Amino acid sequence: MSAAAATSPCRICGGSVREFLDLGRQPLSDTFVDPEDTSGGFVYELRVGRCGDCTMVQLVEEVPREMMFTADYPFFTASSTRMVEHFTRTAQWLLDEHCCSEDPFVIEIGANDGTMLATIAGRGVRHLGVDPAGLPGEDATERGVVMLHDFFETRTAELIRTEHGLADVIFAANTLCHIPALDDVFAGIDAVLAPHGVVVFEDPSLSDVLRLTSFDQIYDEHFYVFSATSVARAARGWGLELVDVAALPVHGGELRYTLARSGTREATPAVAAVLEDEAALGVDDPATFDLFAERVRRHRDELVGELTRLREDGVRVAGYAATAKSATVLNYGGIGPELLPAIHDTTPQKQHRLAPGSRIPVLPFPDEADEPDVYLLLAWNHSEEIMAKERAFADRGGRWLVYVPEVRLI
Ligand code: TYD
Ligand code: ZN
Repeated sequence: MSAAAATSPCRICGGSVREFLDLGRQPLSDTFVDPEDTSGGFVYELRVGRCGDCTMVQLVEEVPREMMFTADYPFFTASSTRMVEHFTRTAQWLLDEHCCSEDPFVIEIGANDGTMLATIAGRGVRHLGVDPAGLPGEDATERGVVMLHDFFETRTAELIRTEHGLADVIFAANTLCHIPALDDVFAGIDAVLAPHGVVVFEDPSLSDVLRLTSFDQIYDEHFYVFSATSVARAARGWGLELVDVAALPVHGGELRYTLARSGTREATPAVAAVLEDEAALGVDDPATFDLFAERVRRHRDELVGELTRLREDGVRVAGYAATAKSATVLNYGGIGPELLPAIHDTTPQKQHRLAPGSRIPVLPFPDEADEPDVYLLLAWNHSEEIMAKERAFADRGGRWLVYVPEVRLI
């Protein structure tokens, strides 16, 4: 991007956000389309920038939240067994480390299908899941989780405080990065967090996005790409402090941040160590992001080139998992049914519909006889789980096309 790159105001600090990457016109990433529907659907410009003042990486255009987190939102945490294990361990850790008051109360923002809170509920600990998404919320209720079907913001936080009292823990996974209006969320947190409570949240980390060139972590729902650097600065504006940070080997690399009210806890040595790591990676330097954008364009061209070659050679290719993040790579690359005739996915709510924008049919997984020769791994963030599950496919000579961290046929 040239020095004349577009700028817009930062959603966190009001500073100047410089655009460094244009991922083009994109659909709503989790809106799987009825094949009869030819309307084209909602489209927005997926452009990404970085604030020169607070360093927060963020989208330039905001999609209204009511369009994304709808009654038929089709993402279910429990679709990955590794994520279920991860959240069971997370719940145990929260119970051991942060639920030490006499009658603890845990809030989860974006509780989805209740995978994490089910363990908390099973221990008889007071809790509340807050999430506007309809279908996953039904599963949460079935798991014995108490739910409030709404957005978490000042208005709902005050209702929660009146009904349940102050929270020892406010947890969120893969949720806070979805919310442009974090100022309102943190005003709500201020209203309902106990004086010695903690806010714990996990989201894809900027370091991993830069290291892996995982540009498909960027889509409508991922409004921010957090780093410890940007979160530490933002926290100060919310009257909080970053007191711990831990790397998580899930979803392609995440950080788990722990915030506490300013002056109530000592920061662990991990905070300084991660901040140093990020500085060494160049999160404070605009040039880092221009180089990232160059790699993104190269990876897109290589992927489209590889799919084109495979088609010319008569190789049968299909997508593996109709992830939200795949909308970015498919639509940015202009990849449609000619290059990728189908995507297979385990989610019934996505099957027999079309992937957004690309209009590639989403189907259940085929029997052995109908398997493709090559799977394009669209859920690369679950690759360990998937490779273990699909060993027989590889044993039969099946191959994997991956595009993170490089485009490779393996
Ligand atoms: P995830 O990367 O968690 O999603 P997103 O990019 O949407 O945040 O992947 C979830 C999707 O992947 C979901 O549609 C189910 C599908 N999936 C499979 O089909 N098989 C699998 O083995 C796994 C782990 C996921
Ligand atoms: Zn800023």
